Amino acid sequence: MQAAATVRALSKRFGSTQALDSVSLSFAVGEVHGLVGENGAGKSTLGKAIGGLYHPDSGDIEIFGHAVRRWDTRRAQEAGVVLIAQELCLVPDLTVAENVFLGREKRTFGVLHPGLLGRYRELEQVCGFGLPPDAPVGTLSIADQQKVEIMRALAREARIIVMDEPTSSLTADEAGRLHEIMRWLRSRGTTVIYVTHFLDDVLANCDRVTVMRDGRVIRTAPTAAETKASLVEAMLGEPADVLLPERPAPPPPGTPPVAEMREVHSGTAVRGVSLLVRPGEIVGLAGLVGSGRTEIARVLFGCDPVDAGQILFRGAAVTGASPRASIARGMAMIPEDRRAQGLVLLRPTLENVSLPHLGGFSRAGVLSRRAERAAVSELIERLGVRPAELDGDVAVYSGGNQQKVLFAKWLLGAPALLILDEPTRGVDVGAKSRIYQLIVEIAQAGTGVLLISSELEEVIGLSHRVHLVRGGSIIGEVPAKDATVDDLLQRLFDVPTSASTGGTP
Ligand SMILES: Nc1ncnc2c1ncn2[C@@H]1O[C@H](COP(=O)(O)OP(=O)(O)OP(=O)(O)O)[C@@H](O)[C@H]1O
Ligand SMILES: [Mg+2]
Repeated sequence: MQAAATVRALSKRFGSTQALDSVSLSFAVGEVHGLVGENGAGKSTLGKAIGGLYHPDSGDIEIFGHAVRRWDTRRAQEAGVVLIAQELCLVPDLTVAENVFLGREKRTFGVLHPGLLGRYRELEQVCGFGLPPDAPVGTLSIADQQKVEIMRALAREARIIVMDEPTSSLTADEAGRLHEIMRWLRSRGTTVIYVTHFLDDVLANCDRVTVMRDGRVIRTAPTAAETKASLVEAMLGEPADVLLPERPAPPPPGTPPVAEMREVHSGTAVRGVSLLVRPGEIVGLAGLVGSGRTEIARVLFGCDPVDAGQILFRGAAVTGASPRASIARGMAMIPEDRRAQGLVLLRPTLENVSLPHLGGFSRAGVLSRRAERAAVSELIERLGVRPAELDGDVAVYSGGNQQKVLFAKWLLGAPALLILDEPTRGVDVGAKSRIYQLIVEIAQAGTGVLLISSELEEVIGLSHRVHLVRGGSIIGEVPAKDATVDDLLQRLFDVPTSASTGGTP
């Protein structure tokens, strides 16, 4: 096996956290190599060390047989190593095409040079993402921004690409296309290091897989020799299943809704949506990415204007909606894009979690620091945030642990309506079960939950009712306990799935 990248005894410590503990590992030329492990296992740290973003404390990195010295992102790029980080890193004011060629080509007076559009079209041929090259990146959805990052890595003609959770906001279709791109890269001899929590994707698309735990390599094996269960066991150190807890009892018939949307229109993304959520009820929105699920949540939460129709909250028509007003009324939303919308990365965990709730911890205007700490601490514990450290900046947490902190922030307020947009994206199998359990407990305590998830098992398993969303409208409702993933998929795509061929219509 010819090695593209080899790391030997690589160690990296952050404060008291040993993020990498003598990691030795080799990535072959022209292989797609999966990297899996629990939140905080060290996957991103390893990727960043290879990509030149982090300096290891000790150990060696070899790229195509040459030991690297004074490694940084620029040198890494010159050596053909490109990192697509978990935290997307684009310039919002520049266009798609400009971001794709950023740092590669000169721009004259802000104008992209004409040869580049041709080059852009070639890349588009390979990717088929269909992004508008002239749109400012800041106006794109997270999923589209992820595609820009992928195109940029291709534009750099990388020989080694580290992709850190590149599919976390892509549709199944788009993820499929990315997997094709990976195969195409492999056929050209490029090495792809693929970090993901989607174990099925690893098994289907990688040649080999490395499992990490607590900063160490547990093992590297051909994917053919692994199963989902064997990977989970290696990740956690014990066998485990993602357990869907039992759904809470539905609210009694006739219970008035906590929130209701009546024929709501907003821009072009939400078209005549009517739905209601009762206290203690979990209502799912299932749809493909881009179907309008997130936009429905945004209007309900007051992020986007209501152009026509009405929103009612606790029986009263909502006017003058804004996220701030919604929070004051008793709503909470865990947004899809945790970095941009949810957390203040350079502030301590404690502050991030308790910020919106300080009123609740003050008595006669005096803030009870002790009550605040105790409440936050309990949640951090229950969610399994690691390290369970209240005073460090949120920025230092691994991606999945940031997601858990965001969750804690909104749970603390015991809202009347909780809107969850992809609540388990990027969290590991253990945390998933914990988050499911919490959602059920919140509903049991009387909170109405609106749940958006691309993982249909999750929507079906937790919700009482599931609305099907397509083209900004609700095209149907199914009682979740009778639904199957295949049913939902078929109705969402509106095409017969393979499972249905030969079946009754
Ligand atoms: N810049 C940093 N400062 C301090 N600690 C850090 C920093 N980066 C990572 N860590 C810590 O190092 C450990 C490994 O983090 P890393 O981001 O590599 O995990 P990961 O495997 O990518 O997890 P996830 O699946 O959640 O993305 C974590 O405990 C994390 O809190
Ligand atoms: Mg990570």
